[in-house]
Amino acid sequence: MANIFSSSIGKKLIMSVSGLFLIMFLLVHLTVNLMILFDSTGELFNEAAHFMTTNPIIKIMEPLLALGFLIHIFYGTYLEYRNNKARPVKYAVSNKSDASWSSKNMLLTGIVIFAFLTVHLWNYFYKIKFTDLISSGSMTESDLVRSIFMPERWYFSIFYIVSFILLALHLNHSFQSAFQTLGLNNNKWLNRWKVIGMLYAFVIAAGFSVIPIAIFIQEYFK
Ligand code: HEM
Repeated sequence: MANIFSSSIGKKLIMSVSGLFLIMFLLVHLTVNLMILFDSTGELFNEAAHFMTTNPIIKIMEPLLALGFLIHIFYGTYLEYRNNKARPVKYAVSNKSDASWSSKNMLLTGIVIFAFLTVHLWNYFYKIKFTDLISSGSMTESDLVRSIFMPERWYFSIFYIVSFILLALHLNHSFQSAFQTLGLNNNKWLNRWKVIGMLYAFVIAAGFSVIPIAIFIQEYFK
């Protein structure tokens, strides 16, 4: 039996399944985070954040999510390295030259997302899980999110928004590519997945960007 890690379809399958898992995570994460804008007291968001940290199903999903990210990041980088090694001459006269910018720069956009995740996990996840900032009562989750996007820390907002735009470019290609690998396409569906992928990428980037922008405006004019 062909080894899933060495067969070419096996490799793409690993990237597609882990990628689709992350695509679903982003939708849930966005929905919870947007709650911060719909209640000025922050209670709605705090309750949702509390639910996300205490719910047993989410607790099981968390290590799976970490595994999904790790597999996707490290395996993707390894595959890109292997491809480049096998193709010493770049795409100057290649049939990939008409490919979209997103599809040719998946490694670059992936690296920026990885850098974003490192800063992001330190901003929130680390402070919530590994310090007593929240448990001691000195801050709520909503205060913590707002503190990062204060006008005087504008550089965080810029960094987050630039990362969301690159995330959208990464998602734009990965969405349709994942469905193509899983065989859920034919001529008619290929174009549909492209449009759905574009819409999804736009909703994710615009939806997440609204959070720092709205907090910046609310705090600036307070
Ligand atoms: C303005 C946008 C965002 C805000 C306000 C935000 C907020 C948060 C917060 C508060 C946490 C800690 C949750 C907890 O442990 O209780 C968190 C965790 C996390 N975020 Fe974000 N996030 C944003 C965008 C993103 C994006 C775009 C990604 C992925 C590319 C992402 C990936 C993660 C991951 C992997 C975790 C750790 C898992 C978890 O705790 O659920 N976040 N985020």
